[in-house]
Amino acid sequence: MATSHGTPPVFNNKVIAWIDHRLPIFSYLEKEYHTFPTPRNFNYFWNFGAIATVMLVLMIATGVVLATNYTPHTTMAFDSVERIMRDVPQGWLIRYLHMNGASFFFIAVYIHIFRGMYYGSYKSPRELLWILGVIIFLLMMATAFMGYVLPWGQMSFWGATVITNLFSAIPVVGDSIVTWLWGGFAVENPTLNRFYALHYLLPFIIVAVVALHVVALHVHGSNNPLGIDPKGPQDTVPFHPYYTMKDGFGVVVFLIIYGAFVFFQPNYLGDAANYIEANPLVTPTHIVPEWYFLPFYAILRAIPDKLGGVLAMFAAIGVLFVLPWLDTSRVRSCTFRPIYKWFMLVLVVDVIVLGVCGANPPEGWYVPIAQLATVYYFFHFLILLPVLGKIERPLPLPPSIADAVLKKAG
Ligand code: HEM
Repeated sequence: MATSHGTPPVFNNKVIAWIDHRLPIFSYLEKEYHTFPTPRNFNYFWNFGAIATVMLVLMIATGVVLATNYTPHTTMAFDSVERIMRDVPQGWLIRYLHMNGASFFFIAVYIHIFRGMYYGSYKSPRELLWILGVIIFLLMMATAFMGYVLPWGQMSFWGATVITNLFSAIPVVGDSIVTWLWGGFAVENPTLNRFYALHYLLPFIIVAVVALHVVALHVHGSNNPLGIDPKGPQDTVPFHPYYTMKDGFGVVVFLIIYGAFVFFQPNYLGDAANYIEANPLVTPTHIVPEWYFLPFYAILRAIPDKLGGVLAMFAAIGVLFVLPWLDTSRVRSCTFRPIYKWFMLVLVVDVIVLGVCGANPPEGWYVPIAQLATVYYFFHFLILLPVLGKIERPLPLPPSIADAVLKKAG
């Protein structure tokens, strides 16, 4: 195949040329993933989109294999998972890959989100790309929540009961919504069945939204650590081989760490109570969601009123939808925002503090700390971001990406 920047590709392989003439998928791949001009200054934070894509594929592949041995019935679900762990050849491996894969998928996506925030990747013209990302995040949370119910352990059951019950806080129609969600008057077999159906369906919807996410990304191309637009060919490199290699390296390092958990600490990120079969008559002393929900769980519990807590929890995600319009700064990257860059760090610490509070019983110091951290979370987005953008004086931007890169290299 002969190609060069900007000219249509010519395929030497006759079969590929024949197919491409009728269905130009190879031209598309060539344009979007080979010659695609990409800023030359990406750092390793730009690996996490590719890592998230690999994790999404891995989750679907392992999930489909698990489904071939899982039984979505309250009397058999727990035992079918135990059978996968003990009797199905390599069943333990597939299950541990899927279980820990969920955690590592969230790790990748959380880093991806904070990367976007730090470098202002949500700002014009990438607002819709960001919003599609927030939709993916919501879909991921729904999928993970329903997946956790499937093994029908104590945390599956009680987690599902607590979270679905939140909807009862909605005035007038709340109780009817909960009955509708459950398909009955408690978390029971119809609930398990619909959660299984949706847990199988949603990942494919995520794939579709990720496709839109990447299409939107390729309209204006990627942002970069400097947050300035490329001004010409000297500011970019072709996606392949430069970023296929860099992404490949990042993916391998990430998979090694993930593998270390799968093979050496497979239950570290989980909860021991989920190895006890669901029992509606015995409430665990401390009901905790999976770690990736903990900051939102802490916000939910920080408000003493049930409806208020539910609204605050949804608002904590809702605020992300309008982030592009809350940030009034004219520069994208925190590299050139001497004050806001520290507040970005405070936000990361704040979310971790919320996570720690969510993991502990709502008693003693955890209560006021969670409340303070919740106040900061909303203060950051609703007050600090719009106000600071107006008053902060950004550092001077470099004339071009090439200029900054060459200066840094001496
Ligand atoms: C299944 C989950 C996701 C996948 C597979 C995914 C995939 C990708 C890929 C492949 C890229 C390009 C490479 C990169 O910049 O890292 C990208 C960019 C981006 N993603 Fe995601 N993404 C996901 C979730 C999210 C979420 C949850 C958000 C935000 C809430 C988000 C916001 C962005 C933004 C703003 C960019 C542009 C980055 C830039 O140009 O600097 N993504 N995504």
